[in-house]
Amino acid sequence: MKFTVITILPELIEPALTAGVVGRAREAGLISVEAINPRDFTTDRHRTVDDTPYGGGPGMVMKPEPLLAAIAAGSRAVAVADGPPRTAGPHRILMTPAGAPLTQARVRELSALPHVLLVCGRYEGIDERVIELAIDEQLSIGDYVLSGGELAALVVIDAVARFVPGVLGEATSVDDESHSAGLLEYPQYTRPLKLVVATSDPAAASEPAAAKPPAAPGDLAAAGEPAAPGEPAAPASHDVPAILTSGNHAAIASWRRRQAIERTAQRRPDLFARFRATPADRKLVGPALHARAHLALVHHPVIDRTGAVITTALTNFDIHDLARSSLTYGLAGYHIVTPITSQRDKAAHIARLWIDDAQGEHRARALRLVRTAASIAEVVEALTVEHGIAPVVVVTSARAASFPAVPRRSPSALVAEARANPAPLLILLGTGWGLAEALIPSVSRMLTPIEGASEWNHLSVRSAGAVLLDRLFGSGSTI
Ligand code: 6GU
Repeated sequence: MKFTVITILPELIEPALTAGVVGRAREAGLISVEAINPRDFTTDRHRTVDDTPYGGGPGMVMKPEPLLAAIAAGSRAVAVADGPPRTAGPHRILMTPAGAPLTQARVRELSALPHVLLVCGRYEGIDERVIELAIDEQLSIGDYVLSGGELAALVVIDAVARFVPGVLGEATSVDDESHSAGLLEYPQYTRPLKLVVATSDPAAASEPAAAKPPAAPGDLAAAGEPAAPGEPAAPASHDVPAILTSGNHAAIASWRRRQAIERTAQRRPDLFARFRATPADRKLVGPALHARAHLALVHHPVIDRTGAVITTALTNFDIHDLARSSLTYGLAGYHIVTPITSQRDKAAHIARLWIDDAQGEHRARALRLVRTAASIAEVVEALTVEHGIAPVVVVTSARAASFPAVPRRSPSALVAEARANPAPLLILLGTGWGLAEALIPSVSRMLTPIEGASEWNHLSVRSAGAVLLDRLFGSGSTI
């Protein structure tokens, strides 16, 4: 496979491709890299490759003529070993932070091409007509800005070369790695079995920072330490996980798969949302988050429009609609919280009417999720008994400033965090003008408010609940 790099700094390219996998691949003739300098295609005395932008503005723009001439010179057809004679030129890629993000899937596709030409921009960019006339694709290597496309072109060459047959030895398969399978790599260990590190800082002596997510405040146990809230963390260990020396290959494979899944859920919710778990994966990671999530509709303590703490009245719609949403998204329970006994009786009565109605079986399934409680504390207690571990209590509010001391989480961040924690999730929905902050203990997370396109923001609690459940557990976000 051939790579041609169009760059005014060819000295950046060559030295980076002499060692390691890519260096060996070039020596073996599996790939070749040629650099072409647009400056060699200038006609003026100063060999000018840039000029000021039309319309004004800071910086310089790469002139079209030298760039087009360099691309043309790099586009001579290459002979392909044991393939049909090629007449088409190379696939021409512009490296730019405004391009499409490079992915492992695209890398794999590019590796099937015989000739890739990479154009490296410098200055503020290149004349747009070059893109129209001589570029097939624009790629970026991430959301940050480099001073030129050269380092990005090197990234493409390295990533693509690894897929060229023969470049990686037999022992290393590209398929087994991070990203190819849509998951991050599991952790690796080698000798010694026990690592002794001399340090005066006990924190620094623990596992490598990357393997350890920051300790979560509140009652969320840090990932990988499924200790009950309040329990002291296990002492830092420098031992290789015992399972890896067990000789049990099936158990090792399961452990690695589980690590890969958990890491991806924690670190890359974006990748995880696209990951499709197999039935075996589901067994490994335990019950899905939605199956240990509960919704509570809180009628007290809530506030009215003046900020006074009140108790709101039950509504029939809320009982039905949130029960139906709860079942749709696979929740474990829907709790109606009110200190007024007659209101709890009424809620239970309404649910029972439908459950007992033979014609209403469809809706009865949803209403079977309904439970009543006199207080939030009572729900917390019930879930602690039921799940053997206290729930993580999450509040929602339309007011961004409420619960100022509680850490904010986007729905995807909350899901990633909660998946790594065995605790059940209790999501509080306030009626009236919202939950009364001071009266609700043990809240550990607040979801970012739901916002639309207008400044008017008064969703009914039923609507807000449905939107929220979809963001947390809708298709694409659950395992
Ligand atoms: Cl491809 N070029 C430049 N200049 N900056 C980048 C990039 C490319 N990808 C991310 N940042």
